[in-house]
Amino acid sequence: MDNKNRPIGFFDSGVGGLSVMKEAIKIMPNENYIYFGDSKNAPYGVKSVSEVRDLTFKAVEILLNKGVKGIAIACNTATSAAVAELRKVYPELPLVGIEPALKPAVELNIQGNILIMATTMTLKEEKFNKLMGKYKDKASIIPIPCPGLVEFIESGKLQGEEIEEYLRNKINTYNKGKIASIVLGCTHYPFITDTLSKIVGKDVIIMDGGLGTVKELRRRLENKNLLTERNKKGEIEVINSYGKNEFIDLSNKLLNM
Ligand code: DGL
Repeated sequence: MDNKNRPIGFFDSGVGGLSVMKEAIKIMPNENYIYFGDSKNAPYGVKSVSEVRDLTFKAVEILLNKGVKGIAIACNTATSAAVAELRKVYPELPLVGIEPALKPAVELNIQGNILIMATTMTLKEEKFNKLMGKYKDKASIIPIPCPGLVEFIESGKLQGEEIEEYLRNKINTYNKGKIASIVLGCTHYPFITDTLSKIVGKDVIIMDGGLGTVKELRRRLENKNLLTERNKKGEIEVINSYGKNEFIDLSNKLLNM
């Protein structure tokens, strides 16, 4: 197959990275995509860094064996654990990771607290602490670790009293002031934006890093002259380590939301 027509690979610990792939499909509709969700091993956010690193390397190998021309690590947790080493091992591969969209949130310059919701690992790792270091004097930033939230989304529960109560407790525990904006530092969370809005109010801006990440991926593919020139819509293949139909069904539902 012509290199330009090879698929783009997306990877996440489960179904969350589909929120990022959706942004890619919007700006690069004619590309082919292969999505690998590792739902069998989700959640990653409470595992050890070395475990997540190993799982991420395995996932990258699966995608490379499928012939992808570039990869998006559409998982903040896997990015913090593995992206630096992946770049060393695959220096020629167009590869992007994702991190919480703190910069655009600070640049909004709204008075109040910026809440960053992410997994425990993402918030503990060096990558996030460096990012935090850049902005901590410019804004009031409150990191909120959300263990347990990924599981709601993996089981297809995007709304309802149970998840609302989880979110209400989180926000009340960590935030004592006016909320300027909320940064979703985990790719699963964009699927519950409506539920979160219901809790914090429609005026609070909720941001994620999906679009920024896929624009960077497009730049990298373009630099290597790897963007497709086909002028018909591409194809999408979703695979999941669980192999169970319900994960593929949930993935299709989330992709079409
Ligand atoms: N979507 C992953 C992220 O962005 C979730 C991690 C997990 O499985 O805990 O961090």
